[in-house]
Amino acid sequence: MLELSPVLGLPPDDVIFGNSSVMGKIRQKLEKAAGANLAVLLRGQSGTGKEVLAKLIHAQSPWRSGAFVKVSCPAIPGTLLESELFGYERGAFTGAYGVKPGRVELAHGGTLFLDEIGELDPSLQAKLLQLLQDGEFSRIGASDGRRINVRFVCATNRSLEREMESGHFREDLFYRINVLAIQLPPLRDRRGDIPTLVDYFLDTYSRQLERPVPALSRHLLADLARYSWPGNIRELENLMKSYVIFGSEEDLRAAMQPGQEDFLDLEIPSNGVISLKKVVRAATRQLERKAILRALETHQWNRRRAARSLSISYAGLLCKMREAGMPPTRGPRACLDVVAQGAS
Ligand SMILES: Nc1ncnc2c1ncn2[C@@H]1O[C@H](COP(=O)(O)OP(=O)(O)OP(=O)(O)O)[C@@H](O)[C@H]1O
Ligand SMILES: [Mg+2]
Repeated sequence: MLELSPVLGLPPDDVIFGNSSVMGKIRQKLEKAAGANLAVLLRGQSGTGKEVLAKLIHAQSPWRSGAFVKVSCPAIPGTLLESELFGYERGAFTGAYGVKPGRVELAHGGTLFLDEIGELDPSLQAKLLQLLQDGEFSRIGASDGRRINVRFVCATNRSLEREMESGHFREDLFYRINVLAIQLPPLRDRRGDIPTLVDYFLDTYSRQLERPVPALSRHLLADLARYSWPGNIRELENLMKSYVIFGSEEDLRAAMQPGQEDFLDLEIPSNGVISLKKVVRAATRQLERKAILRALETHQWNRRRAARSLSISYAGLLCKMREAGMPPTRGPRACLDVVAQGAS
């Protein structure tokens, strides 16, 4: 929970950002944000890499020689969090036998990373606001204030707007932490980066666990590219770890629950109106594409046998493959391209 610099173990930048345009934009933002003494708010679903980016911001900032101190707001019970964050003086409460500096003090000259800030107890939000505004705080039981100089990076996977509406998050605090906002995309919105991440995780864990690892089949790579990844990069990383240990593609396939696949990865128009007809048509098309791809892979891309297994004519299969933009013959790149089209 408490992590002091140096920040080690970050993946190389090329892996962190991949080749997708959405991550390219984030890379540019991050380069500009890292050097500015302004609070950064990282938003994104669980497992999208908010902590990785927080560490990278620290590593690229002028505060990199200071500590990187992480505070996981929900992990520490409310009553303890105040003393963890701000520290206490001797005799401040029963059991306070000595003086204890809080984490904000340990972060002096470095970066304070407040993870899951949306879950910060309302009673502590006011004290944090004061720290953000004036750089001042006081240890519990202290008669005087202390000044510190830290770079704030906060992260949340909750909608802070909704938390404010329901009165759980202070609006004034929101505007203090949300100066430079960076929104991380879910993995399914950067599918093109999956092969890079797969290579990186297989290589890293194969070396770390000292297990040689067989290359993944084309079919499985296609499955990985098509899956919806509700757990984002963390889920991909865990699957690759399991593959390094068990070496079983079957296990990976079973872990990618069919119910989770991205049949309805539709873009919602800005007016929020979705035509049910369009949804059904898109879902049918994606399901059809998936069934055809499976049949082709099962029959080593023998189209006659694939057509028979799907109970359609050979000509019918060729027509559907053309409609789906599928290549007439097998090929690893072609296979991934088909999957990516299917997801759009
Ligand atoms: N771009 C990336 N390249 C390589 N590994 C990554 C990348 N982003 C995240 N990871 C790995 O994925 C896992 C989850 O990342 P991280 O903890 O940063 O996500 P998070 O957004 O903070 O998730 P949560 O909201 O659940 O705390 C970590 O093990 C991390 O090392
Ligand atoms: Mg996190």
